[in-house]
Amino acid sequence: MDLTREEEAILNGEKGEGPRKAMELVTALGKIYGAENLIDITSAHLSGASYKTIGDGGLKYLEDMVAGGARVSVPSTLNPVGMDRTRWKEMHITEQFAEKQLRIIELYGSMGIKTTCSCTPYTGANVPKLGDHVAWAESSALSFVNSFIGARTNREGGPGALAAAILGKTANYGLHLDEKRRPTVVIDAETDGSLFSYSLLGQAVGMAIGSGVPYFTGIRPGVEEAKTLSAAMAASGSVALYHVEGVTPEAGKFDVSELERIHIGKKELDEAYAKLNTVEDVQLIALGCPHLTEKEMHQIAAFLKGKKKVRDDIEIWFCTSAAVREKCAEDVKVMEQFGLVLADTCMVVAPIEGTFQRTATNSAKAGNYLPTLCSQKVMCRDLAALLEVVM
Ligand code: F3S
Repeated sequence: MDLTREEEAILNGEKGEGPRKAMELVTALGKIYGAENLIDITSAHLSGASYKTIGDGGLKYLEDMVAGGARVSVPSTLNPVGMDRTRWKEMHITEQFAEKQLRIIELYGSMGIKTTCSCTPYTGANVPKLGDHVAWAESSALSFVNSFIGARTNREGGPGALAAAILGKTANYGLHLDEKRRPTVVIDAETDGSLFSYSLLGQAVGMAIGSGVPYFTGIRPGVEEAKTLSAAMAASGSVALYHVEGVTPEAGKFDVSELERIHIGKKELDEAYAKLNTVEDVQLIALGCPHLTEKEMHQIAAFLKGKKKVRDDIEIWFCTSAAVREKCAEDVKVMEQFGLVLADTCMVVAPIEGTFQRTATNSAKAGNYLPTLCSQKVMCRDLAALLEVVM
């Protein structure tokens, strides 16, 4: 790889141990993926923030980075953590977990990272522009900014994104390059257009193609639908970029007439539904994967207003960012009559397996991860159908 004199100096440890480690990681990734050089990035979004997922090993890594003088050099945000910082006791979190989690947040904060702790930073805290090179972890968020915004990022892991954030640079390969952003398959989608249908569509496409760059016809997603679709395809497959005819900013650049076409309709959506549903009664209904937007908070509150929860044996968690929770105070009052409105955390990165075994969600992403990361049996339905379970 061609490194500038300044990049060589960082690699030689002239700027301290933290930056040296970061450069070592970014250049190692660049060599593996055949990058010729590093490029400047405008922002980073980091995952690996929950004590549940990174454990004591991850905590030690962060302690070492901070001790080595690591600090981010571009605006950087953080993914959800394992608990709501103020309401963790209501989530059945132990003191020991809470202490380690708070230390992790503190360490990220001391490196200059905004500890907003949301998987939808693109709705407020960290909004890239079309054509920006960025280094984002969190598979749903990076797919959203690649696809719906037209920023450019690879599917970074937590340490890779942190290293890039420290350097303000990443290796120039994969989805940073024009040729890797070309569609690989056309998906002719037939859905009812509901939000839940985007979860099933993403699940079905991930199951059908695994990876690649799908080009959709037949859908018109807005922000909420695109976040749902991005999350679902990134979890059931490893899709990090897609285009939607007439909607996403790069779609018009490509001639797709020669590409393979796959039809996804009722049969495929039914198969996706069957794959996601493994249980009929639940202990927890967890909504907000990815985190609920203001619009979704308004919709849920409007749906719940005037209704009554009769099933006290089922807990409900509404997961969102602290900023959205604060902005939607009136909605929160209505929602809190049914369950907890939690900020900065989610049903997957919280240690729910200590309390629950059967969880309901309207998200295909959560539907994929709850069994593997949280040992849950899952019910996956449309939001209204889930909430009606407790009425
Ligand atoms: Fe966000 Fe957690 Fe889902 S991080 S995308 S709510 S698994």
